[in-house]
Amino acid sequence: MRPKGGAYGVHTDGRECDPVIMSRIEARRDEDSAAAASPLTDRLLAVLPAEAVLTDPDVTASYANDMASFCPAGAPAVVVLPRTVEEVRHVMRTATELRVPVVPQGARTGLSGGANATEGCIALSLTKMDRVLEISPVDRIAVVEPGVVNAVLSRAVGEHGLYYPPDPSSWETCTIGGNIGTASGGLCCVKYGVTAEYVLGLDVVLADGRLMSTGRRTAKGVAGYDLTRLFVGSEGSLGVVVRAVLALRPKPPRQLVLAAEFPSATAACDAICRIMAGGHVPSLLELMDRTTVKAVNDLAHMGLPETTEALLLAAFDTPDPAADLAAVGALCEAAGATQVVPAEDATESEMLLQARRLALTALEAVKGTTMIDDVCVPRSRLGEMLDGVERIAAKYELTIGVCAHAGDGNTHPTVCFDARDPDESRRARESFDEIMALGLELGGTITGEHGVGVLKKEWLAREIGPVGVEMQRAVKQVFDPLGILNPGKLF
Ligand code: LAC
Ligand code: ZN
Repeated sequence: MRPKGGAYGVHTDGRECDPVIMSRIEARRDEDSAAAASPLTDRLLAVLPAEAVLTDPDVTASYANDMASFCPAGAPAVVVLPRTVEEVRHVMRTATELRVPVVPQGARTGLSGGANATEGCIALSLTKMDRVLEISPVDRIAVVEPGVVNAVLSRAVGEHGLYYPPDPSSWETCTIGGNIGTASGGLCCVKYGVTAEYVLGLDVVLADGRLMSTGRRTAKGVAGYDLTRLFVGSEGSLGVVVRAVLALRPKPPRQLVLAAEFPSATAACDAICRIMAGGHVPSLLELMDRTTVKAVNDLAHMGLPETTEALLLAAFDTPDPAADLAAVGALCEAAGATQVVPAEDATESEMLLQARRLALTALEAVKGTTMIDDVCVPRSRLGEMLDGVERIAAKYELTIGVCAHAGDGNTHPTVCFDARDPDESRRARESFDEIMALGLELGGTITGEHGVGVLKKEWLAREIGPVGVEMQRAVKQVFDPLGILNPGKLF
Protein backbone atom coordinates (compact mmCIF):
# COMPACT_ATOMS: atom_id res chain seq x y z
CA MET A 1 0.00 0.00 0.00
CA ARG A 2 1.24 3.51 -0.79
CA PRO A 3 2.03 5.67 2.21
CA LYS A 4 -0.71 8.18 2.88
CA GLY A 5 -0.37 11.79 1.65
CA GLY A 6 2.80 13.89 1.78
CA ALA A 7 4.28 15.65 -1.22
CA TYR A 8 8.04 15.63 -1.88
CA GLY A 9 8.64 12.42 0.00
CA VAL A 10 7.20 13.72 3.26
CA HIS A 11 5.09 10.92 4.69
CA THR A 12 2.28 11.59 7.05
CA ASP A 13 2.28 8.17 8.68
CA GLY A 14 5.41 8.92 10.71
CA ARG A 15 7.75 6.65 8.69
CA GLU A 16 11.17 7.87 7.62
CA CYS A 17 11.54 8.76 3.93
CA ASP A 18 13.50 6.38 1.74
CA PRO A 19 17.12 7.59 2.06
CA VAL A 20 17.80 7.07 -1.66
CA ILE A 21 14.80 9.20 -2.61
CA MET A 22 15.84 11.80 -0.03
CA SER A 23 19.39 12.04 -1.40
CA ARG A 24 17.95 12.56 -4.92
CA ILE A 25 15.71 15.30 -3.58
CA GLU A 26 18.70 16.93 -1.82
CA ALA A 27 20.76 16.77 -5.03
CA ARG A 28 17.88 18.40 -6.97
CA ARG A 29 17.66 21.12 -4.34
CA ASP A 30 21.41 21.80 -4.63
CA GLU A 31 21.13 22.08 -8.40
CA ASP A 32 18.14 24.38 -8.04
CA SER A 33 19.92 26.70 -5.64
CA ALA A 34 23.07 26.77 -7.81
CA ALA A 35 20.86 27.68 -10.75
CA ALA A 36 19.11 30.36 -8.69
CA ALA A 37 22.39 31.87 -7.52
CA SER A 38 23.55 32.71 -10.99
CA PRO A 39 20.54 34.73 -12.22
CA LEU A 40 20.72 36.53 -8.90
CA THR A 41 24.34 37.61 -9.33
CA ASP A 42 23.78 38.31 -13.04
CA ARG A 43 20.89 40.60 -12.20
CA LEU A 44 22.88 42.34 -9.47
CA LEU A 45 25.86 42.82 -11.77
CA ALA A 46 23.66 44.55 -14.33
CA VAL A 47 23.96 47.68 -12.15
CA LEU A 48 26.50 47.02 -9.40
CA PRO A 49 30.24 46.87 -10.22
CA ALA A 50 31.96 43.51 -9.84
CA GLU A 51 33.84 44.56 -6.69
CA ALA A 52 30.50 45.29 -4.99
CA VAL A 53 29.17 41.74 -5.48
CA LEU A 54 30.97 39.08 -3.44
CA THR A 55 30.25 35.40 -3.95
CA ASP A 56 33.36 33.59 -2.69
CA PRO A 57 31.86 31.39 0.06
CA ASP A 58 34.83 32.02 2.40
CA VAL A 59 34.21 35.75 2.09
CA THR A 60 30.42 35.64 2.24
CA ALA A 61 30.59 33.40 5.32
CA SER A 62 32.39 36.21 7.15
CA TYR A 63 29.22 38.32 6.78
CA ALA A 64 26.97 35.70 8.37
CA ASN A 65 26.98 36.90 11.99
CA ASP A 66 26.89 39.86 14.25
CA MET A 67 28.42 39.61 17.72
CA ALA A 68 25.65 37.77 19.57
CA SER A 69 26.05 34.27 20.98
CA PHE A 70 23.43 31.54 20.59
CA CYS A 71 21.94 33.02 17.44
CA PRO A 72 21.55 30.81 14.40
CA ALA A 73 22.75 32.22 11.07
CA GLY A 74 22.51 30.94 7.51
CA ALA A 75 25.00 31.33 4.67
CA PRO A 76 24.46 34.39 2.44
CA ALA A 77 24.16 33.58 -1.27
CA VAL A 78 25.88 36.86 -2.00
CA VAL A 79 27.20 39.93 -0.21
CA VAL A 80 26.61 43.30 -1.86
CA LEU A 81 28.39 46.52 -1.01
CA PRO A 82 26.54 49.31 -2.80
CA ARG A 83 27.88 52.87 -2.87
CA THR A 84 24.80 54.72 -4.11
CA VAL A 85 21.08 54.92 -3.43
CA GLU A 86 20.41 53.77 -6.99
CA GLU A 87 22.48 50.64 -6.38
CA VAL A 88 20.50 49.87 -3.21
CA ARG A 89 17.27 50.34 -5.16
CA HIS A 90 18.51 47.90 -7.76
CA VAL A 91 19.35 45.35 -5.07
CA MET A 92 15.84 45.60 -3.62
CA ARG A 93 14.13 45.44 -7.02
CA THR A 94 16.16 42.33 -7.81
CA ALA A 95 15.33 40.76 -4.46
CA THR A 96 11.63 41.42 -4.98
CA GLU A 97 11.71 40.06 -8.51
CA LEU A 98 13.52 36.87 -7.50
CA ARG A 99 11.94 36.60 -4.01
CA VAL A 100 15.32 36.52 -2.29
CA PRO A 101 15.62 37.55 1.38
CA VAL A 102 17.74 40.60 2.15
CA VAL A 103 19.59 41.18 5.41
CA PRO A 104 20.71 44.82 5.80
CA GLN A 105 23.97 45.10 7.74
CA GLY A 106 26.24 47.76 9.17
CA ALA A 107 29.43 46.92 11.06
CA ARG A 108 27.75 43.84 12.62
CA THR A 109 28.63 44.89 16.15
CA GLY A 110 25.04 44.13 17.24
CA LEU A 111 24.39 41.85 20.18
CA SER A 112 21.05 40.19 19.33
CA GLY A 113 21.65 38.46 15.99
CA GLY A 114 19.61 41.14 14.21
CA ALA A 115 22.15 41.32 11.37
CA ASN A 116 22.65 37.56 11.10
CA ALA A 117 22.26 36.16 7.60
CA THR A 118 19.28 34.10 6.50
CA GLU A 119 20.20 31.06 4.42
CA GLY A 120 20.55 32.05 0.75
CA CYS A 121 20.06 35.77 1.43
CA ILE A 122 21.58 38.87 -0.05
CA ALA A 123 23.67 40.32 2.79
CA LEU A 124 23.29 44.02 2.07
CA SER A 125 26.26 45.72 3.69
CA LEU A 126 25.88 49.50 3.84
CA THR A 127 29.44 50.07 5.04
CA LYS A 128 30.64 51.62 1.76
CA MET A 129 27.98 54.31 1.92
CA ASP A 130 29.99 56.19 4.47
CA ARG A 131 29.88 59.86 3.56
CA VAL A 132 28.97 62.71 5.86
CA LEU A 133 26.96 64.71 3.31
CA GLU A 134 26.32 67.88 5.26
CA ILE A 135 26.90 69.50 8.63
CA SER A 136 24.86 72.63 9.31
CA PRO A 137 25.69 74.59 12.46
CA VAL A 138 22.70 76.88 11.84
CA ASP A 139 20.13 74.10 11.44
CA ARG A 140 22.09 72.00 13.94
CA ILE A 141 21.84 68.90 11.79
CA ALA A 142 24.07 66.45 10.00
CA VAL A 143 23.00 64.55 6.91
CA VAL A 144 24.78 61.23 6.60
CA GLU A 145 24.87 57.97 4.73
CA PRO A 146 24.19 54.85 6.81
CA GLY A 147 27.74 53.46 6.77
CA VAL A 148 29.30 56.43 8.57
CA VAL A 149 31.06 55.21 11.70
CA ASN A 150 29.65 56.78 14.88
CA ALA A 151 33.03 58.12 16.06
CA VAL A 152 33.82 59.57 12.63
CA LEU A 153 30.59 61.56 12.74
CA SER A 154 31.24 62.65 16.33
CA ARG A 155 34.67 63.98 15.39
CA ALA A 156 33.42 65.64 12.21
CA VAL A 157 30.65 67.54 13.98
CA GLY A 158 33.04 68.35 16.86
CA GLU A 159 35.11 70.40 14.41
CA HIS A 160 32.08 72.65 13.99
CA GLY A 161 31.57 73.02 17.73
CA LEU A 162 28.70 70.52 17.61
CA TYR A 163 27.90 67.27 19.39
CA TYR A 164 26.21 64.04 18.28
CA PRO A 165 25.50 62.38 21.65
CA PRO A 166 24.59 58.68 21.09
CA ASP A 167 27.79 56.81 21.95
CA PRO A 168 27.51 53.00 22.12
CA SER A 169 30.57 51.29 23.57
CA SER A 170 31.37 50.14 20.03
CA TRP A 171 31.35 53.76 18.79
CA GLU A 172 34.78 53.46 17.14
CA THR A 173 33.44 50.82 14.74
CA CYS A 174 29.62 50.76 14.72
CA THR A 175 27.74 52.60 12.00
CA ILE A 176 24.95 55.16 12.16
CA GLY A 177 22.73 52.86 10.05
CA GLY A 178 23.19 50.08 12.60
CA ASN A 179 22.58 52.55 15.43
CA ILE A 180 19.28 53.54 13.78
CA GLY A 181 18.36 49.89 13.20
CA THR A 182 18.65 49.06 16.90
CA ALA A 183 17.88 52.49 18.41
CA SER A 184 21.29 52.35 20.08
CA GLY A 185 22.07 54.02 23.35
CA GLY A 186 25.40 54.38 25.06
CA LEU A 187 26.94 56.08 28.03
CA CYS A 188 25.49 59.54 27.41
CA CYS A 189 21.80 58.62 27.51
CA VAL A 190 21.10 59.55 31.11
CA LYS A 191 21.38 63.18 30.04
CA TYR A 192 21.06 63.16 26.26
CA GLY A 193 18.78 60.23 25.40
CA VAL A 194 19.13 57.53 22.75
CA THR A 195 19.48 57.49 18.94
CA ALA A 196 15.70 57.82 18.45
CA GLU A 197 15.83 61.33 19.84
CA TYR A 198 18.34 62.44 17.19
CA VAL A 199 16.84 61.03 14.00
CA LEU A 200 14.78 63.75 12.33
CA GLY A 201 14.32 62.32 8.87
CA LEU A 202 15.24 59.34 6.73
CA ASP A 203 15.50 58.28 3.11
CA VAL A 204 14.49 54.65 2.95
CA VAL A 205 14.58 52.19 0.07
CA LEU A 206 11.49 50.03 0.40
CA ALA A 207 11.30 46.29 -0.22
CA ASP A 208 10.22 46.78 -3.85
CA GLY A 209 12.89 49.40 -4.57
CA ARG A 210 10.78 52.55 -4.18
CA LEU A 211 12.45 55.44 -2.40
CA MET A 212 10.59 57.12 0.48
CA SER A 213 11.55 60.18 2.51
CA THR A 214 10.26 60.48 6.05
CA GLY A 215 10.40 63.28 8.56
CA ARG A 216 12.11 66.59 8.15
CA ARG A 217 15.19 68.73 8.57
CA THR A 218 13.30 71.43 10.44
CA ALA A 219 13.26 72.03 14.17
CA LYS A 220 9.66 70.82 14.35
CA GLY A 221 7.08 69.06 12.23
CA VAL A 222 3.91 67.00 12.66
CA ALA A 223 2.98 66.21 9.07
CA GLY A 224 1.34 62.79 9.29
CA TYR A 225 2.35 59.65 11.15
CA ASP A 226 5.87 59.59 12.54
CA LEU A 227 7.32 57.03 10.15
CA THR A 228 10.83 58.14 11.05
CA ARG A 229 10.37 56.90 14.59
CA LEU A 230 8.84 53.69 13.26
CA PHE A 231 12.04 52.92 11.38
CA VAL A 232 14.28 53.58 14.38
CA GLY A 233 14.71 50.19 16.06
CA SER A 234 13.02 48.27 13.24
CA GLU A 235 16.18 46.19 12.69
CA GLY A 236 16.13 46.38 8.91
CA SER A 237 12.76 44.65 8.75
CA LEU A 238 10.79 47.50 7.10
CA GLY A 239 13.17 49.10 4.63
CA VAL A 240 16.79 50.06 4.03
CA VAL A 241 17.92 53.39 5.45
CA VAL A 242 20.14 55.10 2.87
CA ARG A 243 20.34 58.61 4.31
CA ALA A 244 19.60 60.15 7.70
CA VAL A 245 19.06 63.67 8.94
CA LEU A 246 20.40 63.80 12.50
CA ALA A 247 19.90 66.46 15.15
CA LEU A 248 23.03 67.89 16.76
CA ARG A 249 23.63 69.83 19.95
CA PRO A 250 26.15 72.48 20.81
CA LYS A 251 29.31 70.82 22.05
CA PRO A 252 29.23 70.81 25.88
CA PRO A 253 32.33 71.44 28.01
CA ARG A 254 34.52 68.38 28.51
CA GLN A 255 33.05 66.08 31.12
CA LEU A 256 34.78 65.35 34.40
CA VAL A 257 34.32 61.93 35.98
CA LEU A 258 34.14 60.74 39.56
CA ALA A 259 34.50 57.15 40.77
CA ALA A 260 32.74 56.02 43.93
CA GLU A 261 33.30 52.65 45.59
CA PHE A 262 30.43 50.92 47.38
CA PRO A 263 30.31 47.95 49.75
CA SER A 264 27.19 46.61 47.98
CA ALA A 265 25.18 47.06 44.81
CA THR A 266 22.24 48.09 46.99
CA ALA A 267 24.21 51.01 48.43
CA ALA A 268 25.24 52.10 44.92
CA CYS A 269 21.60 51.97 43.79
CA ASP A 270 20.61 54.05 46.81
CA ALA A 271 23.17 56.66 45.69
CA ILE A 272 21.73 56.64 42.16
CA CYS A 273 18.22 57.25 43.52
CA ARG A 274 19.49 60.13 45.68
CA ILE A 275 21.32 61.69 42.71
CA MET A 276 18.32 61.52 40.40
CA ALA A 277 15.73 62.52 42.99
CA GLY A 278 18.01 65.42 43.95
CA GLY A 279 17.52 66.94 40.50
CA HIS A 280 21.11 66.44 39.34
CA VAL A 281 21.75 66.01 35.63
CA PRO A 282 24.90 63.91 35.23
CA SER A 283 26.16 63.35 31.70
CA LEU A 284 26.95 59.78 32.65
CA LEU A 285 26.05 57.45 35.53
CA GLU A 286 27.50 53.99 35.04
CA LEU A 287 27.98 51.02 37.32
CA MET A 288 30.39 48.09 37.25
CA ASP A 289 30.17 45.25 39.74
CA ARG A 290 33.13 43.51 41.34
CA THR A 291 33.30 40.78 38.65
CA THR A 292 33.38 43.39 35.89
CA VAL A 293 36.01 45.53 37.62
CA LYS A 294 38.26 42.51 38.05
CA ALA A 295 37.74 41.42 34.44
CA VAL A 296 38.70 44.90 33.19
CA ASN A 297 41.81 44.92 35.38
CA ASP A 298 42.78 41.44 34.18
CA LEU A 299 42.41 42.48 30.56
CA ALA A 300 43.80 45.98 30.57
CA HIS A 301 45.65 46.42 33.91
CA MET A 302 43.65 49.55 34.66
CA GLY A 303 44.30 49.50 38.40
CA LEU A 304 40.62 49.83 39.29
CA PRO A 305 39.79 49.06 42.95
CA GLU A 306 39.05 45.32 43.12
CA THR A 307 37.77 45.31 46.70
CA THR A 308 34.69 47.33 45.84
CA GLU A 309 31.39 45.47 45.29
CA ALA A 310 30.13 48.20 42.99
CA LEU A 311 32.02 50.98 41.26
CA LEU A 312 29.89 53.94 40.25
CA LEU A 313 31.10 56.41 37.64
CA ALA A 314 29.37 59.78 37.53
CA ALA A 315 30.24 62.66 35.22
CA PHE A 316 29.18 66.22 34.55
CA ASP A 317 29.75 68.31 31.43
CA THR A 318 28.37 71.46 33.07
CA PRO A 319 30.22 74.80 33.30
CA ASP A 320 31.42 73.87 36.81
CA PRO A 321 31.73 70.07 36.82
CA ALA A 322 33.90 70.02 39.95
CA ALA A 323 31.13 71.62 42.02
CA ASP A 324 28.51 69.21 40.63
CA LEU A 325 30.80 66.26 41.32
CA ALA A 326 31.35 67.46 44.88
CA ALA A 327 27.57 67.50 45.46
CA VAL A 328 27.15 64.05 43.97
CA GLY A 329 30.18 62.76 45.89
CA ALA A 330 28.50 63.84 49.12
CA LEU A 331 25.35 61.94 48.15
CA CYS A 332 27.44 58.85 47.42
CA GLU A 333 29.04 59.09 50.87
CA ALA A 334 25.64 59.49 52.48
CA ALA A 335 24.57 56.28 50.71
CA GLY A 336 27.58 54.43 52.13
CA ALA A 337 30.39 54.90 49.59
CA THR A 338 33.71 53.89 51.13
CA GLN A 339 35.78 55.97 48.68
CA VAL A 340 34.92 58.86 46.40
CA VAL A 341 37.65 59.70 43.92
CA PRO A 342 37.18 62.56 41.45
CA ALA A 343 39.34 62.33 38.34
CA GLU A 344 42.19 64.85 38.36
CA ASP A 345 41.73 65.93 34.77
CA ALA A 346 40.31 65.07 31.36
CA THR A 347 42.89 62.34 30.75
CA GLU A 348 42.01 60.51 33.95
CA SER A 349 38.31 60.94 33.16
CA GLU A 350 38.83 59.43 29.72
CA MET A 351 40.73 56.51 31.27
CA LEU A 352 37.76 55.69 33.52
CA LEU A 353 35.38 55.81 30.56
CA GLN A 354 37.73 53.62 28.59
CA ALA A 355 37.62 51.08 31.43
CA ARG A 356 33.83 51.08 31.28
CA ARG A 357 33.76 50.69 27.50
CA LEU A 358 36.02 47.66 27.83
CA ALA A 359 33.65 45.91 30.23
CA LEU A 360 32.02 43.55 27.76
CA THR A 361 35.24 42.58 26.01
CA ALA A 362 36.78 41.96 29.42
CA LEU A 363 33.90 39.77 30.59
CA GLU A 364 34.18 37.75 27.39
CA ALA A 365 37.73 36.85 28.36
CA VAL A 366 36.53 35.32 31.68
CA LYS A 367 35.19 32.10 30.16
CA GLY A 368 35.47 32.59 26.43
CA THR A 369 31.78 33.27 25.72
CA THR A 370 29.13 35.62 27.03
CA MET A 371 25.42 36.21 26.74
CA ILE A 372 24.68 39.86 27.33
CA ASP A 373 21.31 40.81 28.74
CA ASP A 374 20.01 44.32 28.10
CA VAL A 375 17.17 44.61 30.57
CA CYS A 376 16.06 48.15 31.38
CA VAL A 377 13.96 48.75 34.50
CA PRO A 378 12.57 51.92 36.02
CA ARG A 379 15.61 53.22 37.88
CA SER A 380 13.66 53.10 41.15
CA ARG A 381 13.71 49.27 40.77
CA LEU A 382 17.41 48.96 39.92
CA GLY A 383 18.36 47.67 43.37
CA GLU A 384 15.83 44.83 43.13
CA MET A 385 17.09 44.02 39.64
CA LEU A 386 20.71 43.72 40.76
CA ASP A 387 19.75 41.65 43.84
CA GLY A 388 17.77 39.35 41.58
CA VAL A 389 20.68 38.89 39.18
CA GLU A 390 22.88 37.88 42.10
CA ARG A 391 20.29 35.28 43.15
CA ILE A 392 20.08 33.96 39.58
CA ALA A 393 23.88 33.68 39.32
CA ALA A 394 23.94 31.65 42.57
CA LYS A 395 21.02 29.45 41.48
CA TYR A 396 22.69 28.50 38.17
CA GLU A 397 26.22 28.44 39.64
CA LEU A 398 27.47 30.86 37.00
CA THR A 399 29.59 33.98 36.86
CA ILE A 400 27.37 36.87 35.84
CA GLY A 401 29.18 40.21 35.66
CA VAL A 402 27.03 43.32 35.65
CA CYS A 403 27.76 46.63 34.07
CA ALA A 404 24.92 49.06 33.76
CA HIS A 405 23.89 52.39 32.39
CA ALA A 406 22.70 52.78 35.95
CA GLY A 407 21.23 56.23 35.53
CA ASP A 408 18.90 54.79 32.88
CA GLY A 409 18.09 51.61 34.84
CA ASN A 410 19.61 49.79 31.84
CA THR A 411 21.56 46.75 33.01
CA HIS A 412 23.84 44.40 31.08
CA PRO A 413 24.02 41.28 33.26
CA THR A 414 26.60 39.31 31.29
CA VAL A 415 26.59 35.56 31.66
CA CYS A 416 30.13 34.18 31.32
CA PHE A 417 30.34 30.56 30.25
CA ASP A 418 32.34 27.96 28.39
CA ALA A 419 30.48 27.22 25.16
CA ARG A 420 32.21 23.84 24.92
CA ASP A 421 30.44 22.69 28.09
CA PRO A 422 26.85 21.72 27.15
CA ASP A 423 25.54 21.83 30.71
CA GLU A 424 27.07 25.22 31.39
CA SER A 425 25.71 26.47 28.07
CA ARG A 426 22.21 25.29 28.99
CA ARG A 427 22.44 27.01 32.37
CA ALA A 428 23.71 30.16 30.67
CA ARG A 429 20.71 30.31 28.36
CA GLU A 430 18.27 29.60 31.22
CA SER A 431 19.77 32.24 33.47
CA PHE A 432 19.76 34.73 30.57
CA ASP A 433 16.03 34.11 30.14
CA GLU A 434 15.33 34.30 33.86
CA ILE A 435 16.98 37.72 33.95
CA MET A 436 14.56 38.94 31.26
CA ALA A 437 11.61 37.50 33.19
CA LEU A 438 12.78 39.40 36.26
CA GLY A 439 13.08 42.61 34.25
CA LEU A 440 9.49 42.28 33.01
CA GLU A 441 8.26 41.57 36.56
CA LEU A 442 9.87 44.80 37.70
CA GLY A 443 8.04 46.81 35.05
CA GLY A 444 11.00 46.89 32.67
CA THR A 445 11.76 45.92 29.11
CA ILE A 446 13.75 43.00 27.70
CA THR A 447 15.93 45.36 25.70
CA GLY A 448 16.95 48.93 26.39
CA GLU A 449 19.27 49.41 23.43
CA HIS A 450 20.43 46.18 21.74
CA GLY A 451 17.21 45.16 20.02
CA VAL A 452 15.33 41.87 19.74
CA GLY A 453 17.04 40.23 16.75
CA VAL A 454 16.76 36.47 16.99
CA LEU A 455 18.00 36.26 20.56
CA LYS A 456 14.87 37.60 22.23
CA LYS A 457 12.18 36.68 19.72
CA GLU A 458 9.95 34.77 22.13
CA TRP A 459 10.44 37.50 24.67
CA LEU A 460 9.11 40.28 22.48
CA ALA A 461 5.72 38.56 22.49
CA ARG A 462 5.90 38.20 26.27
CA GLU A 463 6.58 41.91 26.64
CA ILE A 464 4.09 43.39 24.19
CA GLY A 465 1.37 40.72 24.25
CA PRO A 466 -0.61 39.08 21.44
CA VAL A 467 -2.41 42.24 20.30
CA GLY A 468 0.88 44.13 20.17
CA VAL A 469 2.45 41.36 18.07
CA GLU A 470 -0.57 41.29 15.75
CA MET A 471 -0.35 45.04 15.10
CA GLN A 472 3.43 44.88 14.60
CA ARG A 473 3.00 42.06 12.08
CA ALA A 474 0.37 44.13 10.29
CA VAL A 475 2.82 47.03 10.00
CA LYS A 476 5.48 44.66 8.67
CA GLN A 477 2.99 43.37 6.07
CA VAL A 478 2.39 46.92 4.76
CA PHE A 479 6.06 47.61 4.20
CA ASP A 480 7.23 44.15 3.25
CA PRO A 481 4.32 42.13 1.83
CA LEU A 482 6.61 39.39 0.49
CA GLY A 483 8.48 39.04 3.78
CA ILE A 484 11.91 39.42 2.18
CA LEU A 485 13.37 42.05 4.55
CA ASN A 486 15.40 40.52 7.36
CA PRO A 487 13.01 37.57 7.80
CA GLY A 488 12.99 35.65 11.06
CA LYS A 489 13.94 38.64 13.20
CA LEU A 490 11.82 40.33 15.90
CA PHE A 491 8.89 37.86 15.75
C1 LAC B 1 27.71 48.51 26.59
C2 LAC B 1 27.09 47.82 25.42
C3 LAC B 1 27.12 46.35 25.57
O1 LAC B 1 27.01 49.16 27.33
O2 LAC B 1 25.76 48.22 25.24
O3 LAC B 1 28.92 48.38 26.75
ZN1 ZN C 1 25.06 49.38 26.84
